[in-house]
Amino acid sequence: MSEKKIVIAIDGLSSCGKSTIARQLAKELNYLYVDSGAMYRAITLYFLRNNIDFNNKEQILNALDGMDLDFRLNEQTGKVEMFMNNENVEYLIREMIVADKVSEVAAIPEVREFAVKQQQKMGAKKGIIMDGRDIGTTVFPDAELKLFVTADNAVRVERRFKELYQKNPNITIEEVAHNIEMRDYIDANREVSPLRKASDAIEIDTTNLTPEEQLQKVLKIAQNVINN
Ligand code: DC
Repeated sequence: MSEKKIVIAIDGLSSCGKSTIARQLAKELNYLYVDSGAMYRAITLYFLRNNIDFNNKEQILNALDGMDLDFRLNEQTGKVEMFMNNENVEYLIREMIVADKVSEVAAIPEVREFAVKQQQKMGAKKGIIMDGRDIGTTVFPDAELKLFVTADNAVRVERRFKELYQKNPNITIEEVAHNIEMRDYIDANREVSPLRKASDAIEIDTTNLTPEEQLQKVLKIAQNVINN
């Protein structure tokens, strides 16, 4: 008998460790990993490049109409990368210029509707792990397993700083702290699908866990759900 395939929804604030958990789990279970934040980032990049007015519904809908977002596997690295209209934007969407505006764009109802529809399609066949802010509450309210990942603020800032510093040694810890604080506020307070812990989500605090410890913890939880 083949193993039961489930949907795993992982939510949490930025840099709490959720994408590391999602990637680790996807590898162990041989599931598809989808970074839903990458979609909001790609849309933001498109809006910035094309000077879309974030308050102009018509411009927004026109921009989204025909926008093609897809994830493709990079055979060399084994990582999934974000493509927008056939262009690999995986690296561009991680730049600070996008990070500074992405929460504003992700708060636009039309943008969320566009992204959520595509995310739900990707999960139709199950065997998927998606991380974001509203995966357990809005995208997959019936997911068989929901995790809500947290970490102390200072640890989140430090992790994010280390990640960005490798690409840009001019970046300061204050800039990173400010960006995280601003995004937390917007993501948790917007009107449509604000970040919330689903009532049936299991909370995982990664503050004092090594990557190996967190993997063992979530793998046990996931295998329990899959085998029951
Ligand atoms: O996970 P991330 O930091 O790459 O996400 C980028 C932004 O997109 C973040 O500010 C919140 C938003 N986002 C969202 O609103 N809903 C999701 N499901 C995923 C991300």
